[in-house]
Amino acid sequence: MEKKTYYITTPIYYPSDKLHIGHSYCTVAADTAARFKRQLGYDVMFLTGTDEHGQKIQRIAEENGQSPKEYVDGIVKGIKELWRILDIKNDRFIRTTDKDHVEIVQKIFKKLYDQGDIYKSEYEGWYCTPCESFWTERQLKDGKCPDCNRDVERTKEQSYFFKLSKYADRLIKHIEDNPDFIQPQSRQNEMLNNFLRPGLEDLCVSRTSFNWGIPVTFDEGHVIYVWVDALSNYITALGYLTEEDGLFKKYWPADVHLVGKEIVRFHTIIWPIMLMALGLPLPKQVFGHGWLILEGGKMSKSKGNVVDPVVLVNKYGVDSIRYFLLREVPFGSDGLYSEEALVNRINADLANDLGNLVSRTVTMIEKYFDGLIPEHIDSKDPLDDDVLKIATELPFKMEEYMNKLQFSNALVEVWKLVGRCNKYIDETTPWILSRDESKKGRLGTVLYNLAESLRYVAILIEPFMPNTPEKILSQLGIEKAEFKTWDSLKSFGTLPSGIRVKKGGIIFPRVEFGKEAKVEKKEEEKVESKPEITIEDFDKIEFRVAKVLECEKVEGAKKLLKFKLEVGDEIRQVVSGIAENYKPEDLIGKNMVLVANLKPVKLRGIESQGMILAASENDDNVVVITTLQDIKSGSVVN
Ligand code: ME8
Ligand code: MG
Repeated sequence: MEKKTYYITTPIYYPSDKLHIGHSYCTVAADTAARFKRQLGYDVMFLTGTDEHGQKIQRIAEENGQSPKEYVDGIVKGIKELWRILDIKNDRFIRTTDKDHVEIVQKIFKKLYDQGDIYKSEYEGWYCTPCESFWTERQLKDGKCPDCNRDVERTKEQSYFFKLSKYADRLIKHIEDNPDFIQPQSRQNEMLNNFLRPGLEDLCVSRTSFNWGIPVTFDEGHVIYVWVDALSNYITALGYLTEEDGLFKKYWPADVHLVGKEIVRFHTIIWPIMLMALGLPLPKQVFGHGWLILEGGKMSKSKGNVVDPVVLVNKYGVDSIRYFLLREVPFGSDGLYSEEALVNRINADLANDLGNLVSRTVTMIEKYFDGLIPEHIDSKDPLDDDVLKIATELPFKMEEYMNKLQFSNALVEVWKLVGRCNKYIDETTPWILSRDESKKGRLGTVLYNLAESLRYVAILIEPFMPNTPEKILSQLGIEKAEFKTWDSLKSFGTLPSGIRVKKGGIIFPRVEFGKEAKVEKKEEEKVESKPEITIEDFDKIEFRVAKVLECEKVEGAKKLLKFKLEVGDEIRQVVSGIAENYKPEDLIGKNMVLVANLKPVKLRGIESQGMILAASENDDNVVVITTLQDIKSGSVVN
């Protein structure tokens, strides 16, 4: 029989900055849903990636003194590394700068143009660059972007338009007929009442005022609106409109697009209308989750209140972080993030409830049964019934909650079994049973029930906490794969007696707020080395000493400094992205090392004739290279 398929996506992230714990939230959720479906035997496609075009990225790259591609390459590397650290097992990572994506988006645009759904006209209105979003006068809130409350820019340009209006009625009907299409329900009402029912205007889908985007093939100077480019990723990744469209045939329509609540609008209006115009089925669901909020509002770099997930993982361990993200807040609602709440969860749920249960169970099996899992002698004690019932029903309850993406409720169910088992120990008092040889059978049954329940727990938490199950199962001595599957949870009592438990370390040590926790650190990935070059290659670069004559900030670019440099008897103008690390006045009179024969580039419209060398430890710590003693400017460096 052919396997059932499951296609789940996250948004593709803007590589505009380092990602914070808020971004990780959605990706961890999608990964958990994907792992769960894999456990159930589905053929899963889990897609994530990066959304690399647009005015916003172009500006940030310029501020950094890099070309957009150079800039995004660096950030994307960090994003992939973050997903590795968080144990994200995506099946595909798409970049909108991938050649195949670019070509398919161009085909989509052309197809919509040829069939008359895209037409040329003039756009005049407002644009929010951080949101990459167009607004009409009427939609602005006190003259600002209604989504993010930042300043908008007036734009007027020749543009292509997409006939959203033509499909509005069909979309309204689709939403009304398919109550699962937009989830949670509240977001559905918001879309209908605030956007769709008041009437849709056609959407401006090309830009001419900048060039970092996918070119319109039939009209030079136009690039495709970044949201049309980005949304298409969900089908370009599957090879839509190419000869190799096997994945598209297999997985489309998607089962669910997971997105943050502020971009539900794009996914439930623009995207379905694009699909309708292309004659394609709509995704089965768009789920808009809430935001992780810090005191002071949504995490954002501009507010300076970001939480770095890598720091948290190094401090508390990846499974604890994943557990916390999905347990603490019902998926769909906003939730307050605090490290204190995280520490409380780790201590209460993980160290106390689960960690202790494992350690108590294994210790007692070692002590009373020489480390061998005892036999289950059906004892008909009513105390057992409760545990058995909870365990037996658990997989079904999990499936129900997971199908609705209610991660928190699913975990609550698992912890009901954990809690019940701890209580069962207190009720059955194994240490008293152990004093009476005639109760040995009963004692064995109790310990068997505990071990078997822990096997259930271990298997069921795998989608959430990929590293913990093996730690539990190996302490229980369970090695064979057949006892680690979803199918092996069909009947309580599958765990064989007689296997040898192996007491191991503490699975979740208690942590203290403010103190470093001890966790196994993943090996850091080294900075990638470049391929070997010959001396001739090296010789192509001309390094020279340059003396700083003048230096000033570039207005409107927070990372850029503009230099006037003396290089021998030549004067050069160079722009460099070190404004966050140096004050201009501190650099005047200093020697720099200049790549003097680099082809000039324009940054923020200013020509840069060469590149100043600097060492960087990370984004924040950048140090300029200078000479140990003073030396005449223009001197060759080699
Ligand atoms: O919107 N809590 O990208 P993006 C929860 N490129 N989620 C958060 C969050 C927080 N504090 N901060 C951000 C884009 N997110 C587009 C998507 S898809 C075709 C194109 C979530 O990098 C946010 O809600 O700005 C969004 O879903 C995701 O991170 C990506 O945001
Ligand atoms: Mg955003």
